[in-house]
Amino acid sequence: MTILSEAQRKLDLGKDFTRETGLPFVTISYAQSLDGSIALRPGYPLSISCAESLVLTHHLRAMHDAILIGIGSVLADDPRLTVRLAEGGNPQPLILDSRLRFPPYARLLECNGCKPWIFTTDRAAVDRERSLEACGAKVVRLPSGPDGRIEVRTLLKHLVKMGILSIMVEGGAEVIKSFLLAKAVNQLVVSITPLLVGGIRVLEATAKVDPTPFPRLINVGYEKAGSDMVLRADPDWAKE
Ligand SMILES: NC(=O)c1ccc[n+]([C@@H]2O[C@H](COP(=O)([O-])OP(=O)(O)OC[C@H]3O[C@@H](n4cnc5c(N)ncnc54)[C@H](OP(=O)(O)O)[C@@H]3O)[C@@H](O)[C@H]2O)c1
Repeated sequence: MTILSEAQRKLDLGKDFTRETGLPFVTISYAQSLDGSIALRPGYPLSISCAESLVLTHHLRAMHDAILIGIGSVLADDPRLTVRLAEGGNPQPLILDSRLRFPPYARLLECNGCKPWIFTTDRAAVDRERSLEACGAKVVRLPSGPDGRIEVRTLLKHLVKMGILSIMVEGGAEVIKSFLLAKAVNQLVVSITPLLVGGIRVLEATAKVDPTPFPRLINVGYEKAGSDMVLRADPDWAKE
C-alpha cells in the first residue's frame, strides 16, 4: 500500500474518531533534511523537497478539509497553501496568530474561495482584526491558554463546530510541538531529504527532557519519492 492510500484509509477511519471524541483527525506533515532540520534559521525558509515529494504533499493537502500553520511560518515563507501540483480542491487555510501579526500583503489573502481563517486571542488589537477582515480573512477569537497562545484542544473542538473534520498541520516547529504535546495528532507524514543542513530542528528543546513527552511511532511505512524518502506513521498514544 502506498503512503497516500494508507493516509487516505486513516482519514476515512478518522470519521469514527471524530464521532467518538468531537475532535478532527490531525495529520502532521513536514519536510526535513537528514539531520532533522526544517528551516535554516529563524525566519528563513528552506526549500529542500524534491519535485516528487512536493507532488505527494499537494495530494495530501487535497485529502484534508483544512491546512494549518503558525504565524511564524506565514512571516518566514509567505506560503499559499493551495493545491497546485495535484488534482483536488484547496483545503481551508487556518493560521494560529495570538497577537494578529498576520501581514495584510500575505499571499494567503490572494486566493479567491480560500481566504484564511485566523485564530487569535484577546491580545490582538480590534483595528488589526477589522483590517484583515476587510481583506477577506475570517478572524476568530478564542480564549488563550496559560502561555497566552491558542490552546490546541479548544481550537480543535471549535473547528469541528465550523465543519472541519480533518486538518493537515504543515508547521512550523512551534506549532508541531504544541500539537504533539497536546496529544492531538493522529498520523505523521514526513518527507526526508538526503541533505545535511544544521538548521532549526523540529523538536529541539523539549526532546531533551527525560523521559521524552513525545509518542513512540507505530505502523510505520516508507516510500521513495524521487530522491526523498517519505515516512508515514501513527503516534502510539495508548502507551503514553
Ligand atoms: N520544512 C517544513 O516542512 C516547514 C513547514 C512549515 C514551516 N517551516 C519553517 O518553520 C519556521 C517557522 O517555525 P516557527 O516555529 O518559528 O513558527 P510556527 O510554528 O509556524 O508559528 C509559531 C507561532 O504561532 C503562534 N501560535 C499561536 N498559538 C500557538 C500554539 N498553540 N502553539 C504554537 N504556536 C502558536 C505563536 O506566535 P504568537 O504568540 O504571536 O501567536 C508562535 O510563535 C520557518 O522558518 C519555516 O520556513 C518548515
